[in-house]
Amino acid sequence: MAQLLTGQFIAGGDGIQLSSDGRFIEAPSGDRLPVKNPVTQAVMGTLHIYSPADIDAAVDRARLAVSAWSDRPLSERAALLHRWADRIHADAQPLADVLMDEIAKNAQDALDEVHRSADYIHYTAEEALRLHGEALLSDAFPGQRRNKISLTSRVPVGVVLAIPPFNYPINLAVTKIAPALMMGNTVIVKPPTQGAFSGLNIIALAYDSGIPTDALIPVIGPGSTTGDVLVRHQFINLVSFTGSSETGAHIAQQVKMVPLQLELGGKDAALVLPDADINRAADHIVSGAFAYSGQRCTAVKRVLALASVADLLNPALVERVERLTVGTPSENAIITPLISMASADYVWDLVDEAVQQGAKPLTPLQRDGSLIYPIILDHVELSMRIAWEEPFGPVLPIIRVSSVPDAIEVANRSEYGLQAALFTKDIAQAIQIAEKLDVGTVQINGKTSRGPDHFPFVGTKASGMGAQGVRHSLLAMSRVKSVVLNL
Ligand code: NAP
Ligand code: G3H
Repeated sequence: MAQLLTGQFIAGGDGIQLSSDGRFIEAPSGDRLPVKNPVTQAVMGTLHIYSPADIDAAVDRARLAVSAWSDRPLSERAALLHRWADRIHADAQPLADVLMDEIAKNAQDALDEVHRSADYIHYTAEEALRLHGEALLSDAFPGQRRNKISLTSRVPVGVVLAIPPFNYPINLAVTKIAPALMMGNTVIVKPPTQGAFSGLNIIALAYDSGIPTDALIPVIGPGSTTGDVLVRHQFINLVSFTGSSETGAHIAQQVKMVPLQLELGGKDAALVLPDADINRAADHIVSGAFAYSGQRCTAVKRVLALASVADLLNPALVERVERLTVGTPSENAIITPLISMASADYVWDLVDEAVQQGAKPLTPLQRDGSLIYPIILDHVELSMRIAWEEPFGPVLPIIRVSSVPDAIEVANRSEYGLQAALFTKDIAQAIQIAEKLDVGTVQINGKTSRGPDHFPFVGTKASGMGAQGVRHSLLAMSRVKSVVLNL
């Protein structure tokens, strides 16, 4: 088999795979997974789809590697991760170039994703060094003598399966891989189809940095088939998935007696109260709703405001939306083509249906293939699908509510519970409302967003299970072990 690589990066070729010794090679036979450039719709290249036998072999390698990897001193594992992060920083531009081609993320956001991921690895490597166990004395419990000591520490769960989505194929891979490796697990990564080259590139850099090829193994294939086989595999000990709520629910039904970490969809509401600073709210709502064309779990996906507030807010929103650049990733446009034509069709149908049912567009309804120009829809009614469904596109519905309690009620009626944003000058009131919102995070006077990545990140209801954020992820990727000394 020929080594295809000239540099360390790959974004094309036919039947590419990362061999067990860490080289990009072309598989001589087998099924191919095409990866399309979302802007040109041209096939960038194809990847080798893992057969059931390939999947078993990969998981087996990972399983057999757990003890050697977890036996490495923690400081040594941290040093390897720091090297990996340094390589990612150093190679940020070529990594970002592949991201731009693969998922149509603009130049600046692609570069930010890469650097943010490297920073995450550094932080995680350090944080893992600071996790401490504890010693418990038996006589703290009623009726007990001081004749036992429990020494508790955290140990690996075994093989972690990491499944990231297309919209952050590097960052949401790294936020699973780094804590898993630091806690002594080995990792199988199933990259998203759109984003698979980016996934392979960061894994290749991990190998270059000295992370063993058996500790971090990619498995390539479509989620609906390869992903399904993986989540049910008997030697997978934890599944960490980020993606749609629909796929998350499906995975939850497949996985039996295995811990699950789920980061799923969102319908984040921005509640703008009558005393809000309208300009600040408009700045945050527009950047929160339209960055990466709205393809973020944490995008602002609805505004809830009294009619009097909406009348003031709308012109400020429209003015800002009119300034958003529309174009290609290399032009660094904010609005770029959506990930697929199917996704654009879905978004367009939601808008079209809402307009037919009486929603009022405040911006021109314009579409060019998978490129949808930014849309603000006022007078969205609760009977419309767009009031509840997650479009994953550049659309901002405005729902006029009758009171602040009504806004809270409508916010909470959603099946999702990722984040909410609350704009008001009355911080005491904001804290009280925040307590009533059934979401993982409430942003007061700021847009909904995940970062900084050491903050806890949690979804309630259909938005997820379990907490992320560096420290929470380290804990999630390990289990408590107690050794009792009987004196
Ligand atoms: P998706 O279609 O659910 O896919 C996510 C990942 O799961 C991809 O790697 C996909 O592989 C794989 N997959 C699909 N079906 C599978 C199955 N049956 N078993 C195992 N894996 C399977 O989601 P997406 O379109 O990539 O991402 C958009 C969604 O993710 C949105 O709903 C967004 O809100 C959510 N999201 C949530 C967060 C969060 O932190 N809460 C962050 C980012 C995105 P293929 O690509 O090969 O199909
Ligand atoms: O799409 C989901 C990401 O985790 C959101 O991250 O808020 O930094 O865009 P972000």
